[in-house]
Amino acid sequence: MGWNSWNTFGCNISESLIKQMADAMVNSGLRDLGYQYVVVDDCWMNSTRDSSGNLQANASRFPSGMKALGDYLHGKGLKFGIYQAPLDKTCAQYFGSYAGATGAQGHEAQDARQFAAWGVDYLKYDWCSPSGTIDDQVRTFAKMRDALAATGRPILYSINSNSIHSKTGPQRNWGDVANIWRTTEDITNKWDTGQTNGYPMGIQNIVNVTVPLASYARPGAFNDTDMMEVGRGGMNDTEMRSHMALWAILASPLILGNDVRSMDSATQTILKNQNLIAINQDTLGLQATQVSNDGTRRVLAKRLANGDVAVALFNQGGSTTTVSTTASAIGKSGSSFTLKDAWTNATSTTTGAISASVPAHGTVVYRVSGG
Ligand code: GLA
Repeated sequence: MGWNSWNTFGCNISESLIKQMADAMVNSGLRDLGYQYVVVDDCWMNSTRDSSGNLQANASRFPSGMKALGDYLHGKGLKFGIYQAPLDKTCAQYFGSYAGATGAQGHEAQDARQFAAWGVDYLKYDWCSPSGTIDDQVRTFAKMRDALAATGRPILYSINSNSIHSKTGPQRNWGDVANIWRTTEDITNKWDTGQTNGYPMGIQNIVNVTVPLASYARPGAFNDTDMMEVGRGGMNDTEMRSHMALWAILASPLILGNDVRSMDSATQTILKNQNLIAINQDTLGLQATQVSNDGTRRVLAKRLANGDVAVALFNQGGSTTTVSTTASAIGKSGSSFTLKDAWTNATSTTTGAISASVPAHGTVVYRVSGG
């Protein structure tokens, strides 16, 4: 869980912006709810390496340097994330919107040591090139996995194999290579862009790609449905809630992409939902599996460490409908169950029937206990 600069700020980042965001993570209470990584995405680097081949911060944007930024984040009880690319160029460099060609190719061990020396706790490693087979990607991503391990510093390893490339994210279980791996092209703040897996992806589109990959999730290795769009407009409140609920039950990283210095109360209610955070972060580390899907009504269930099961009743259609399942269909046996609604905290009991009236694009989540 954390925050990333890209969705709201793109290339327009600086150390003062990142520090303000860190302060807001603390002051808003988000850090204490578990959002701990602050990830500096593309465009933090100088356009050239130094004479020894070391990466350098862009001195006008990060005049105090990356080590000082890491120290600041650690002083706030946060963790430090940074972006790099495995080939010659970062994504912004590839598109020509940022100068240089400072990718890690041929510098993997050196860059990993540099990140460790700066106090980095999370590396986002972004392919962003049409070239290379999936086997090339596996080998190249593994090279940085090993380089990070060799530093001796625990660094969460986040990869993306899909940008400007054939969409290899869903083609294998990347848990042998990384801690989290993107399943799709980039997200945008829309419910449905009509894409199967292409740029840009809406919430419904990402869910469609990622649900079938449920068996890959385990503690320390998760499908990454991309940085969140909650609080960035483009969707109504029901859709924003659904977005959070689905990311939570799919056990995706919860990486905020909004400006946390200025969140309205609806956004805060969504992002601070402790029932959903607990379901997402459950130590069993499972992703919800699909119980049923008739095209409109989709039911997903996630088994939890204490024996409870979280169930999402998701309405993919354009008007309110009743979505139903049963305790036995979600893997609970017994004769009496308690349902706790993750949005309202209301509890109810049932002998097995589980259903709710769900608005268009809405998701009702129950935590089901007993049996
Ligand atoms: C790619 C990634 C994004 C972001 C940008 C940065 O598009 O998928 O998440 O990191 O690159 O340039």
